[in-house]
Amino acid sequence: MKKLFIETYGCQMNFADSEVVASILKEMYSLTKDIQEADLILINTCSIRDKAEQRIHKRLRELEAYKRKKRTLQVGLLGCMAERMKEELLQTEPVLDFIAGPDAYRSLPQLIADSQHGHTSFNVLLSKEETYDNIMPVRYDANGVSAFVSIMRGCNNFCSYCVVPYTRGRERSRSPKTILGEIEDLLSNNYKEVTLLGQNVNSYYWKEEGQEVSFAKLMAMVAEMSPDLRVRFATSHPKDLSDELIETIARYDNICKCIHLPVQSGSDEMLQKMCRVYSRESYLERVRKIKEMLPDCAITTDIIVGFSGETIENHQDTLSIMHEVGYEYAYMFKYSERGGTLASKQYPDDIPDEEKTRRLEEVIALQGELSMASNLRDVGKTFRVLVEGASKRSDDQLFGRNSQNKVIIFPRNGYQIGDYVDVTVTECTPATLLSN
Ligand code: SAH
Ligand code: SF4
Ligand code: F3S
Repeated sequence: MKKLFIETYGCQMNFADSEVVASILKEMYSLTKDIQEADLILINTCSIRDKAEQRIHKRLRELEAYKRKKRTLQVGLLGCMAERMKEELLQTEPVLDFIAGPDAYRSLPQLIADSQHGHTSFNVLLSKEETYDNIMPVRYDANGVSAFVSIMRGCNNFCSYCVVPYTRGRERSRSPKTILGEIEDLLSNNYKEVTLLGQNVNSYYWKEEGQEVSFAKLMAMVAEMSPDLRVRFATSHPKDLSDELIETIARYDNICKCIHLPVQSGSDEMLQKMCRVYSRESYLERVRKIKEMLPDCAITTDIIVGFSGETIENHQDTLSIMHEVGYEYAYMFKYSERGGTLASKQYPDDIPDEEKTRRLEEVIALQGELSMASNLRDVGKTFRVLVEGASKRSDDQLFGRNSQNKVIIFPRNGYQIGDYVDVTVTECTPATLLSN
């Protein structure tokens, strides 16, 4: 059988999609981890920031060299960049034999066949329905303990800076029946943790024959499948974080106490321009509700610095909301203008790059302090850890995560991958909890 090598960039949803792609092609190709022996290389791409796209262009230069060495090698480009740049990419990147957007993966066998006959082929049609519902992903890169399950696709929010609604299309949810079926299969293969995925996962909604399933209800259904199964989710939008969901998280021990709640900015002026549809105050109200109902819940976030017109005061508002919430962890970015978005049409990208860098450094430094303070509070506490693997530093040590999604490193003591272990934290760094 021919060999397939897949390289994935971008968000967890892209990683989940690559597993769907591997499944669609499994009759034609077996997977290889050695790019040298590949007959087909697929690059699953991300468009979220300019840097992400530059990385892919650079990678394609390297793939040209492989192609010169092996004339029969085919290269295909998948994902958000395929969608954003469409057939133009085939002209500007001759190394590509075909491209397929995020809703076109079922047509991959056809695209591959067409391109073998010398045609450049592409399919970047977005769909209102496609959820790859009946496709059981091939878990080729998983650790055998923890897996991602896509439960919805697309996004309807149109935050003014963001390319995702254009690359992934409209929001659509997958049927609870096939979601539960996929998780049943994971359980029978001894998986212990699932992360339910969607760009806006808490707006999940399914209605069929009088049965209505909200995201909170779906979470409860998954949590009830086994007390030994941990349930996580990403990413939730603050506007859809209902009391019902917070109460459901509180009700089940096996729903992890960690909520990723991207704030983007602490300034009302910026939030409004970003079309985030919440205010600083309504965001903080949700945070108070979480802290009241889930006292040991970690809250993590995404932050953008240097959005159009961001003043020093607006930036200070971001620093102060970070203090106020006391985030456990944050993903922090400089604003990157994306063609086609509302912001690119209406709001100039007017903060100089050096100033964006300065603000980003400030945000990163503050988050470092907040993460360290949070980790110091955990020293002396005991957490249930799900073992994921051997620590990078030493084979005598294992690592895993607690419910709050913090990494803990501890002595092996005969434990195995996939075990639950109660670990008492004795030390910490800003990034990790340790036990000796
Ligand atoms: N759907 C999720 C996250 C999507 S992308 C949500 O709405 O929260 C992940 C993060 O990338 C975003 O939360 C945002 O912080 C960042 N991001 C998106 N577009 C960006 C842009 N144009 N420039 C810089 N960061 C961006
Ligand atoms: Fe982008 Fe906003 Fe949708 Fe998140 S919610 S994917 S930031 S448009
Ligand atoms: Fe990137 Fe597309 Fe995900 S733009 S972040 S791969 S949805």
